[in-house]
Amino acid sequence: MTNRLGLLVAGSVAEGLSARLDPTVAIEDVRLGKFVKIVGQKYEYFCLVTDVQLDSANADVLRDPPGDPSTVDVFLRQVLSGTTTYALIKLKPELMLANPAADIQFEDSDLVPRPARTIPPHFSSVSEATLADFERVFGRDDGKNHFQIGQPIDMDVPVCLDLRRFVERSNGIFGKSGTGKSFLTRLILCGVIKAGAAVNLIFDMHSEYGWSAKNEEGAEVKGLSQLFGSRVAVYTLDMESSRGRGVKPSGEIKIALREISVADIALLQDELRLHRTAVESAALCEDKLGDDWVARLLDMSGDELTDFANQEGGNHASLSALRSKLRLIDRLPFVERSLSQSTLDQVIAQLERGQHVVLEFGRQRNLLAYILAANVITRRLHDLWVKKTERYWNTKDEADRPRPLMITIEEAHKFLNVDAARQTTFGTIARELRKFYVTLLVVDQRPSGIDAEVLSQIGTRITCQLNDERDIDAIFTGVSGGSHLRTVLATLDSREQALVLGHAVPMPMMVRTRKYDPTFYATVGGDDGAVILSRARRYEEIFGVDG
Ligand SMILES: Nc1ncnc2c1ncn2[C@@H]1O[C@H](COP(=O)(O)OP(=O)(O)O)[C@@H](O)[C@H]1O
Ligand SMILES: [Mg+2]
Repeated sequence: MTNRLGLLVAGSVAEGLSARLDPTVAIEDVRLGKFVKIVGQKYEYFCLVTDVQLDSANADVLRDPPGDPSTVDVFLRQVLSGTTTYALIKLKPELMLANPAADIQFEDSDLVPRPARTIPPHFSSVSEATLADFERVFGRDDGKNHFQIGQPIDMDVPVCLDLRRFVERSNGIFGKSGTGKSFLTRLILCGVIKAGAAVNLIFDMHSEYGWSAKNEEGAEVKGLSQLFGSRVAVYTLDMESSRGRGVKPSGEIKIALREISVADIALLQDELRLHRTAVESAALCEDKLGDDWVARLLDMSGDELTDFANQEGGNHASLSALRSKLRLIDRLPFVERSLSQSTLDQVIAQLERGQHVVLEFGRQRNLLAYILAANVITRRLHDLWVKKTERYWNTKDEADRPRPLMITIEEAHKFLNVDAARQTTFGTIARELRKFYVTLLVVDQRPSGIDAEVLSQIGTRITCQLNDERDIDAIFTGVSGGSHLRTVLATLDSREQALVLGHAVPMPMMVRTRKYDPTFYATVGGDDGAVILSRARRYEEIFGVDG
C-alpha cells in the first residue's frame, strides 16, 4: 500500500521540485526532512522535504478570504481547500533507482541507489516512502553489514548505517551537551563490536562506556563490557574509583615519564598555561637529554639547570618555567618515573588480538590527564599500526593485514583544533583517512573548534541539536546541499534526534535515535538475545544489581 502525498507540478534539477499536496493529506502532518518517493517513468526518486508552502490558484481568494472558522465560512474553507487553496511541498531529490515497474533493461548501476542527476516528469506521483523503500536505500539490519541507528522522525521503520563504509573513515558525533551523543556513541560501538567491523579503543573520560552509566532519570544503563563480556576489557587510570563503582578492571594503566614527548607538551599548552617558548625549550631538552628528558630536567638542581642553559644555548627562565609545569605532570597519579612492566603493552596486545578496550579515567577526568594519556597511548598505537601496514604492503599476505582500529575520543576539539591537529597523532590519523587502518570516532559538542581540514575528512557526521551558528557551519563544511540541511537540522528536538549524513548512508536522513534499553541489549552481543539476558543476570548475581 502506498501512502500518496501528492503529485509533482514544477521544479528543476538545480532548484529542487515542487509537488502539490493531495487535499486528503493534512498539511500539518508533513514535516521538514520527511523521506518521500517520486515514481517517475524510468526511475524512482528518493527525496527530502525541504519546505512546505501555502499557495492558491486564485489570488482573489487571498484578497477576500473566508471569515472566522466558527461561522458558516467553515463550509467555504472546505470548498476552497485542495482546489483553489492548496499546499506545495518542496523536495530535494537525493537518490534515483531503477523503477521496478518500468519495462526497461536496466544497467547494474541503476539497481543501486545513486545521486539523482535527472528529475521525474510532470504529475509524477509523490508518496511517503515505505519500509521496502527504506530497506532498498539504507539496507536492513543484519547484525553484520548494516546497523539500525534509529527511525525516521515520523515513521516506525529502521534507518541503518552501512558499517563497512562507516569504519572506512573517521567519523563524528556532534551535538550540544545533553542531546544524546554518549548514548549514540554507545549504540554505534555496540553495532561495530557486534559486527566485528573494527576493534575499538575508547578513551572514556567520564567512565560511562565500560561498565554501567546512568541516564538522566538516574536509572542504570549497561556498559559495553556488561553487554559483550570478555570481548570488551576495561582498563583504568584510577583503580580506586573503578573499584568503588564495582568495576573489575583488567588492569591499571601507568605511563612512564619517558613516554612523554614534546608533541604531548605542545598539546598541553592551554592546560598547563605554557608560554610560547616552552615548546622550544622542551624540544631542546629532548634533543640534548634524550628520551628521559622529562625526568632529567625535573631532577636538575638550580646550578645544573643554569649550566645546561649556558652550555646548550637555552633560555634559563623558559627552561625553569617549563620545569615547574612538568611537575604538574609528574604529580599525576598515573605517571611514574619508571615502570618495570607496562600494562599499556598488555592493552596493545589485546587490541592486536581483536579485543576491545575501554580506558576509564575515573577521577582523572581533568583535561590535563585526559589529553596526556590519550595522546601518549594513541601515538604508540598509531606507530605500531603503521609498522603492521607496511609489513602487509611488503608481504601482501592477507594474514598480515592489520585489523581496522577505531579510536573513540570525547572532547575531540582538544586534540583536533587548528593548532593541535598539526601536531598530534589524532590529527595525523584524521588526515590519513585509513591508510594505516586506524580511524577516529570523534565525539564533540563544539565542532567549530575542530580544524576545518580534519572536519572535511570526517566520513559520516551524526549531528544532534546544535545552536551555535559556527558549529552548524562547521558541520556542513564541504557538504553539497548544506543550506537546506541547515533548515532540517534546526528542526531537531533537543534530545534523541539526529541528522545523519555522509559516507555510511546513501543520503542525509533525520532520525529518532534508537533507544538504548533492555530491548536493545537483547539484540547485541552474540546472536542469541537470551544468552545476553542470562549473562546480564549473572553479572547482577555476582556483583549485585547496583554493581
Ligand atoms: N538513545 C537513547 N536511549 C535512551 N536514552 C537516551 C538516548 N539518547 C539520549 N538519552 C537520554 O538523554 C540523556 C542525555 O544523553 P547523553 O548521551 O548523556 O548526552 P550528551 O552525551 O550529548 O551530553 C541521557 O541521560 C538519557 O536519559
Ligand atoms: Mg556525553
